[in-house]
Amino acid sequence: MSQLKPTVLVTGGAGYIGSHAVLALQQSGYDVLVLDNLVYGHQDIIDQVLKVELIRGDTNDRPLLDDLFASRRIDAVMHFAAYTYVGESVTTPEKYYRNNVIGTLTLLEAMKAASVNKFVFSSTCATYGPPQESPIPETHPQNPISPYGVSKLMVEQILADFDRAYDFRSVWFRYFNAAGADPNGLLGEDHNPETHLIPLVLFTALGKRETISIFGTDYPTPDGTCLRDYIHVSDLAMAHVLGLEYLLNGGKTDVFNLGNGNGFSVKQVIETARAITGQEIKAVECDRRPGDPASLVGTSEKARRVLGWSPKYADLNDILAHAWQWHQKRHR
Ligand SMILES: NC(=O)c1ccc[n+]([C@@H]2O[C@H](COP(=O)([O-])OP(=O)(O)OC[C@H]3O[C@@H](n4cnc5c(N)ncnc54)[C@H](O)[C@@H]3O)[C@@H](O)[C@H]2O)c1
Repeated sequence: MSQLKPTVLVTGGAGYIGSHAVLALQQSGYDVLVLDNLVYGHQDIIDQVLKVELIRGDTNDRPLLDDLFASRRIDAVMHFAAYTYVGESVTTPEKYYRNNVIGTLTLLEAMKAASVNKFVFSSTCATYGPPQESPIPETHPQNPISPYGVSKLMVEQILADFDRAYDFRSVWFRYFNAAGADPNGLLGEDHNPETHLIPLVLFTALGKRETISIFGTDYPTPDGTCLRDYIHVSDLAMAHVLGLEYLLNGGKTDVFNLGNGNGFSVKQVIETARAITGQEIKAVECDRRPGDPASLVGTSEKARRVLGWSPKYADLNDILAHAWQWHQKRHR
């Protein structure tokens, strides 16, 4: 690589995972531009923490994208911008196809027109659908059960076609459950509405919710509650920097799971949160929710082997301690 560090456009950089990626890129010496429409992103994080240039705009806005690529030197794009609510995607699928598929296609067309051909894409373990083996490898069949999962799979297929047609190189990261927060307390998770287990457990610890619901206690798992693979968001962010470097060094289009490799149960998360927060955190046992598999755990051996990725915070205690530090500051 030349001495001059490349400039990376980060879409969705004002959101949860994107903001951590911006920080990791800055800390690795890259120039960063953020494109975010702020539908879910946070202006204060951009202005006060990341101090990065924000282009407030939408991936569906082709003229804006053409202006951006024409006026700035952009070497690669990291694409986090998407809608992410699985339940909403079932009730309003067109919203997800328009934003996640058409928005991405518009961005890819603008990149093609500007001869920018390196792309890091946020995909998801939701593209696999019901697991047929555990831990799930990248070669697992893809049968997503929600429009959200289908929208991400469609983009993977578009990227495979762009690779064949245009030498367009991309890395697709299929994340499991992103969790935790920047270890220094600068950034963290702030979704509204919030649907993820760890922040909801911590809202309960903060007294912002009365109880936390446990959906299903009769699964074939050690304590009867669902097992999920929680991956620390700063480890995810670092994987994106490595994925970018892999592409800049001539790597071919490829797909990598990003997970912890360990499943943690819902009860384990609540117990660990009780120990870290010192709060009671009242839990209510409820029926299973339709569509929730007993276990969703991936193997990330390929990312370790090919990208040299080595997660630093695989311990559930670290994930929860960092999230708690952030939540106390942000949501108290
Ligand atoms: N959070 C997880 O556990 C998880 C798991 C798997 C995959 N992902 C994927 O990771 C990515 C980031 O997720 P997150 O949890 O940080 O979500 P987030 O909602 O916090 O961040 C998404 C950001 O994209 C912006 N955005 C959405 N649509 C846009 C558009 N059309 N144009 C410009 N900006 C737009 C939003 O304002 C927001 O800031 C998403 O693509 C998501 O599908 C997340």
